[in-house]
Amino acid sequence: MQESIKERIEKLRKIIDHHNHQYYVLAQPEISDFEYDNLLKELSELEEENPQYFDPHSPTQRVGNDLATDFKQVTHNYPMLSLSNTYSSEEVSDFIKRVQKGLNGEDTLFTCELKFDGVAIGITYQKGILTQAVTRGDGVKGDDVTNNVKTIRSIPLKLPYGTDFPDEFEIRGEILLPFEGFKKINKERENNNEPIFANPRNAAAGTLKLQKSATVAKRPLDCFFYAILGKNLPSRLHFENLQKARDWGFKISEHIQICKGVDEIFEYISYWDKNRQALPFATDGVVIKVNDSRQQEILGYTAKSPRWAIAYKFKAEQATTRLHSIQYQVGRTGAITPVANLEPVLLAGTTVKRASLHNSDQIKLLDIHDQDYVKVEKGGDIIPKIVGVDKSKRQKGSQSIDFIKRCPECGSELIRIEGEAKHYCPNTAGCPPQIKGRIEHFVSRKAMDIGGAEATIDALFNQRLINDSADLYYLNRDDIISLERFGEKSAQNLLQSIEQSKSVPFHRVLYALGIRYVGETVAKTIAGKYQSIDELKEASFEDLTSINEIGTRIAQSILDYFKDERNLKIIEKLKNAGVQLTQKEGTAKTDKLAGLSIVISGTFEKHSREELKELIEMNGGRNTGSVSSNTNYLLAGENIGPKKLEKAKELNIRIIHEDDFLQLIQ
Ligand code: IVH
Repeated sequence: MQESIKERIEKLRKIIDHHNHQYYVLAQPEISDFEYDNLLKELSELEEENPQYFDPHSPTQRVGNDLATDFKQVTHNYPMLSLSNTYSSEEVSDFIKRVQKGLNGEDTLFTCELKFDGVAIGITYQKGILTQAVTRGDGVKGDDVTNNVKTIRSIPLKLPYGTDFPDEFEIRGEILLPFEGFKKINKERENNNEPIFANPRNAAAGTLKLQKSATVAKRPLDCFFYAILGKNLPSRLHFENLQKARDWGFKISEHIQICKGVDEIFEYISYWDKNRQALPFATDGVVIKVNDSRQQEILGYTAKSPRWAIAYKFKAEQATTRLHSIQYQVGRTGAITPVANLEPVLLAGTTVKRASLHNSDQIKLLDIHDQDYVKVEKGGDIIPKIVGVDKSKRQKGSQSIDFIKRCPECGSELIRIEGEAKHYCPNTAGCPPQIKGRIEHFVSRKAMDIGGAEATIDALFNQRLINDSADLYYLNRDDIISLERFGEKSAQNLLQSIEQSKSVPFHRVLYALGIRYVGETVAKTIAGKYQSIDELKEASFEDLTSINEIGTRIAQSILDYFKDERNLKIIEKLKNAGVQLTQKEGTAKTDKLAGLSIVISGTFEKHSREELKELIEMNGGRNTGSVSSNTNYLLAGENIGPKKLEKAKELNIRIIHEDDFLQLIQ
């Protein structure tokens, strides 16, 4: 039966509300901006044509909402509006015509700017001092995230230059996470068993809402400013004001340009559509603004956005291809991810064979059937995603896809935890990919560093020689030799590697245990506070959360870990095998080298390089591989590399020897 208009409107409101929640509350969008904007557009048009179905709670009636409950809410001095946006060049031409008509044909200059893809922020400065930073929220009220924003290095706490700034003003900009930092954070999250961020915007949004600003400080957020508001601004012209703001010490993009009319604007748009890939951060379009604030005032505002500006959004590249099958992957934590196997298709320079389908809701929402032709998109996200189905090509009688009910690996009935989008296999103890995943983590380089074991885990597990990480310590020569491709020598090597791992320091053993959210850094922090695993086991929730850097989520996860009998058994076995579950004398953490970056080169008398590295880290410093202007010390041994030495001299970096170093940490 044909869907009635009323039904369609209601359905769209539901779908959009769902995506608003995913995007604004959970920071986990499931569809592209393009798809989302299309849905919103369809709804707005239907509502306009059918006013009898008006609803004040419709998603078209609000700008959006990203309020978190944990931050103080503040009313904006100037409402934070959004921009009307479009993917069509005709609509940009229409905008320019509308502006010219609105200004009775007066000469008009426009600024063209990059549209940064991050999180909007409004920051107030009083007498040149940063006093408050507020997120957009619902446009009227936002979250006070001042403490977190203050950790962003490129945002001045006190204006370093100039005196000609107004006594009080607000500067607005976009907080973002450049690609490099994004990759780094995701790598860490992967190591820590945490879900990775789909794109840099989510990572920036998630970071800005963290409760502990110390953690925020560790993430390399950045901010570009694009507007300044207040009385007594230096100029009537937007462009001039931004140049001034740059002079005062704010980060203003180099890529703002004054454009005279349609042609120059389109030239700017097409240049950046082609060249934005080369930028180190994500952009999703171009913003075109009337430059003169007098003209801006004449043009005015609609309820949601200024009439003097528009955003042209770049289209993410899309391709249509056939869905072959859906594979359900089981992660180390038991989370099930459906992945589509596709007929290979060329998209934005690479061949795409697989795309993520996120979760069961997404499959339902897309209404995918067997062998459908699907639209694949590669936007700012790391993994290409399916954003729609070409229903005109659907085969008659094809079946819609039902999400699996049982784990494809162990057959357990899947569960779904209230409020979570993913299904989980609850069989932590018996589901092979979960067990193997934990052991792989245990032997990995930054954990126990058992060389050669990674590739062998499958075989050891399949032969029932290991069922948890502690079993590795009870293997003997014959066990290993019984495996295919193992000879005397390789078996000896593996055994030796396992033996050596017994001297891995306590904090790395802690990391190796794979406690959820306990990554390398957290493990070091914990090992600095608790001298042994037994002490840690006795720690209460309050004890743990009183440690800087340990929030409620990590604390709870640690408590849960020790509640599980199976984990206690593993610990017991590790202890009996001689793995270091206590802190060695004299290795407690200090911050004597906090903030210092040290390069090690050459060979040393008293310590191995690995030990020196440990010492640097245990004292809060950072060991880096190559000498750069960020290096504080070059720790030089015998036979130091001549290049490193030369570079250090050239950059005027202090060169110290082993004894100087030991003195430093005394
Ligand atoms: S001007 C009243 N300029 O895009 C207009 N916005 O939907 C204020 N954005 O929330 C916005 N780059 O966070 C402006 N160069 C730029 C921008 C920009 C990114 C974001 C901004 C805003 C959203 C508009």
